[in-house]
Amino acid sequence: MIAPRILLIVGGGIAAYKACELVRLIRKAGGSTRCVLTEGGSHFVTPMALAALSEQEVHSSLWDLKNETEMGHIQLSREADLVVVCPATADLIAKMAAGIADDLATTLLLATDKPVVAVPAMNVRMWLHPATQRNVARLRADGVTVLDPDEGAMACGEFGPGRLPEPPFIWGEIEKLMDRPRPASAPGVEGGGLAGRHILVTAGPTHEPIDPVRYIANRSSGKQGYAIAGALAELGARVTLVSGPVALPTPPGVHRIDVESAREMAAAVDAALPADVAVMVAAVADWRAEDACGQKIKKDGSGLPPTLALAENPDILAGLAAGSRRPRLLIGFAAETENVIPHAIAKRDRKQADWIVANDVSGDVMGGDSNRIHLVTGTGVESWDRLTKDDVARRLAARIADEFA
Ligand code: C5P
Repeated sequence: MIAPRILLIVGGGIAAYKACELVRLIRKAGGSTRCVLTEGGSHFVTPMALAALSEQEVHSSLWDLKNETEMGHIQLSREADLVVVCPATADLIAKMAAGIADDLATTLLLATDKPVVAVPAMNVRMWLHPATQRNVARLRADGVTVLDPDEGAMACGEFGPGRLPEPPFIWGEIEKLMDRPRPASAPGVEGGGLAGRHILVTAGPTHEPIDPVRYIANRSSGKQGYAIAGALAELGARVTLVSGPVALPTPPGVHRIDVESAREMAAAVDAALPADVAVMVAAVADWRAEDACGQKIKKDGSGLPPTLALAENPDILAGLAAGSRRPRLLIGFAAETENVIPHAIAKRDRKQADWIVANDVSGDVMGGDSNRIHLVTGTGVESWDRLTKDDVARRLAARIADEFA
């Protein structure tokens, strides 16, 4: 990791004193810090303390004309590699989520083109309040890394989540973030590890009509596939996402093609070729109704259910593997409820994929936000710790980028 230049925004809360320790740790690791102190923050730590520790001028006013000519507030946020808000109070988090820019700190946060980490610290009730939770979810959806507060006794005498994590932990998280590949789409970045590559991703379920109102489908939220498409785009790839019916926004920079059935998905995949990589995350229905009825099937009064004849759907992954336009790297998914690794190894062989990303779906993976992955490649099996679907996506995207490095 190169020595990071950190813009540290210190909010108003009793935990602000820990920001001083964080500055010390950043400096010790060879990084530099410019501090911005909010009005509230200045009641807990002095500009003098932060200036002494950072050996840099501390900024607090948006209306400092001298600095506005010498160093605009936008410049201040652009010169950093990372913006850290510590402590991030409920008020600061709410303003960030709403895009309010009414002082130097919030203006910088709205103007920055750099990754932002918020380290919350507040009273337990404030943290657990639906408004704060809503704001945190909004920020995370906007790409801000919001750390979870620690749990324990609070300065106000209450107990629960809301304490600022200890500075060494915060520094560890910063280090992890700085080690991650930078999004290619961020202004000022020349291109990620996958710039110039075309990557095809399938995601979501397919719907196989039985009649105009009924269909056969698999349980799939599409979250993992969408996260992978987004992470690949962040690394500079041109991503085509062929998606079954899901209720998710298209990740930034991704070209999305909506389909319903397996056969439509197969046709869309074919039309999107050639591709350097294909990541087949979709939960494609194995069967479709042989003769989908044009009218709603009615109960006929006999008490006997209608017979549903099924036909097998095309295997899109196996078809790609066997085809003349096979992507250089072909990745399949395997959702298994038992014998996860042996089944995945067998699936890799059967489908002639390069990698199989196997996940255990015996728990609450379907529709949930985390995943436990075993990556089966030609050289072995890597078992990853349980990760959020976003982290699985970033890790997989980084592994794909390594293949092309
Ligand atoms: O055979 P199974 O459904 O378990 O295989 C899962 C993998 O194969 C996934 O990568 C899925 O996207 C892909 N698949 C496909 N077309 C099908 C069935 C599965 O591309 N008809």
